Amino acid sequence: MGKVIFENSISLDGYTAGPNDGPENGLGDGGEALFAWYQSGDVDFPLPGTDMSFKISRASADLLTEEWGKLGAMIAGRRMFDIAHAWGGYPPGGGPCFIMTHNPPQKWLKEGSPFTFVTDGIESAVRQAKAAAGNKNVSISSASIMQQCIKAGLLDEIMLSVAPVLLGGGVRLFDNLGAMPIQLETINVVQGIKVTHIHFRIVK
Ligand SMILES: NC(=O)c1ccc[n+]([C@@H]2O[C@H](COP(=O)([O-])OP(=O)(O)OC[C@H]3O[C@@H](n4cnc5c(N)ncnc54)[C@H](OP(=O)(O)O)[C@@H]3O)[C@@H](O)[C@H]2O)c1
Repeated sequence: MGKVIFENSISLDGYTAGPNDGPENGLGDGGEALFAWYQSGDVDFPLPGTDMSFKISRASADLLTEEWGKLGAMIAGRRMFDIAHAWGGYPPGGGPCFIMTHNPPQKWLKEGSPFTFVTDGIESAVRQAKAAAGNKNVSISSASIMQQCIKAGLLDEIMLSVAPVLLGGGVRLFDNLGAMPIQLETINVVQGIKVTHIHFRIVK
């Protein structure tokens, strides 16, 4: 059985996006610094399922190759879906993509759509994504979805790519978590260029 993993780039002060994020300002004011590491090295990393490619350090490329190779399905929230303009219909990873929303968009409710819209709660989203992923992992991409997973005891691991920037405001990752503390174990730390990848296991 695969794991449920949250993967995200984060500022050192805990933001997944800067202030004023939206479809015309994806990562918010100053938030592009979170993804500076995507173009910081000399190793090509084609993003599976898309026509995008990163240029990153060897250390980051080795890590991403391993992690993306284990990816079976993805869950994101409606804000990320809208901000990413539905990834032009090609969600990263190329696997089944589940979007949590209260109002599924008509445009993507059609035969052959790469998206499944989930309206009946986080347990249902994780159950459906796990079934689609088979033995592979389910990747969580949005802050609010990760928070719901942690509260429901559904998240296994957290993989943060920490960017060397202090954003000072924006979308905080680890809000709304309810009862604290939540204990973590560090699995590994990988130093890239303009990024430090830290992989944690949630102690249950
Ligand atoms: N730094 C990174 O690596 C990275 C990666 C990806 C995204 N981001 C950033 O993360 C931000 C998006 O994350 P976010 O946490 O703000 O929003 P989000 O999780 O993408 O979307 C939140 C929305 O999802 C829907 N939703 C969430 N839980 C639901 C539930 N249980 N049932 C039904 N619908 C539900 C609701 O939309 P409706 O009620 O409207 O349907 C809710 O407003 C953006 O700023 C994006 O740029 C950063």
